[in-house]
Amino acid sequence: MIVSGSASQALAAALARHLEEPLAAVEYDRFPDGELLAAVPGVAEAEPDRAVIVASTVSSDAHLEVLQLQDAVREAGVEEVVTVLPYMGYGRQDDAFEPGHPVSARAVARAISTGSDRVLTVNPHEAAVCDFFEPTATAVDAAGRLAEPLPADLTDPVFLSPDAGAVDLAETVRDTYGAGDIDYFEKTRHSGTEVEISPSDVDVAGRDVVVVDDIIATGSTMSEAVAVLEDRGVDRVFVTCVHPLLARDAVTKLSRAGVEAIYGTDTIERGVETVSVAPVLAAHL
Ligand code: R5P
Repeated sequence: MIVSGSASQALAAALARHLEEPLAAVEYDRFPDGELLAAVPGVAEAEPDRAVIVASTVSSDAHLEVLQLQDAVREAGVEEVVTVLPYMGYGRQDDAFEPGHPVSARAVARAISTGSDRVLTVNPHEAAVCDFFEPTATAVDAAGRLAEPLPADLTDPVFLSPDAGAVDLAETVRDTYGAGDIDYFEKTRHSGTEVEISPSDVDVAGRDVVVVDDIIATGSTMSEAVAVLEDRGVDRVFVTCVHPLLARDAVTKLSRAGVEAIYGTDTIERGVETVSVAPVLAAHL
């Protein structure tokens, strides 16, 4: 049985179709004092062998919802609980960056672990966050899916990552697309919204460029990269990422920078052109 968190309803439905497993009815409610209640009313009668909870933890409420859904299915007697975090919130806080700071990714992983027999997550910022979970946690690679919506007629394409950390993703997208060069920029982050991009020597004049990253959050990284490319006479720029968080004015920022299209996966359900990670998740279930 597939059980959806409120932020992952379309992906959970797609996964249920792929696996040919029932999609549970779920209720998301709130008590008058503001406390959440996520419930799975028919689970006891359905007596499923396992429950697969699919919930991107895009907010603090979404984190709590996961814990409630895990507890609800256990309470109903389900033996195996698999938790799928298509997007693992707090995953980028994978270290104590200053004295006195928490390792937030570890804190949330510990809480989620208590109700799971197995955890899957999609392209975490660092695969090492999987070690924070007590049951086995697997990082599923969905980068290949990002090639699917790209136009088939890219002109002499370059697949570029805005920093060295995402070059493997860019390479996977290029390999799946089937043609193109690979390159990456160097990035220095000055604050949560300010980044500086140091370009490489790649000649992009008259070429189509696909900028690939694991996540677009505020869009600062991508828009800086696009600005550099525009200065160098690029033809079309497409931006693509696994997790289209697209916080605040990210879509406007990218559109103003001149991108042709923004692509992402359905790990985070936003209004951009998406491709589903359901097939790659299904292969692990
Ligand atoms: C950081 O290294 C990540 O790969 C992304 O580049 C970053 O998190 C994107 O954040 P933003 O969109 O806020 O620049």
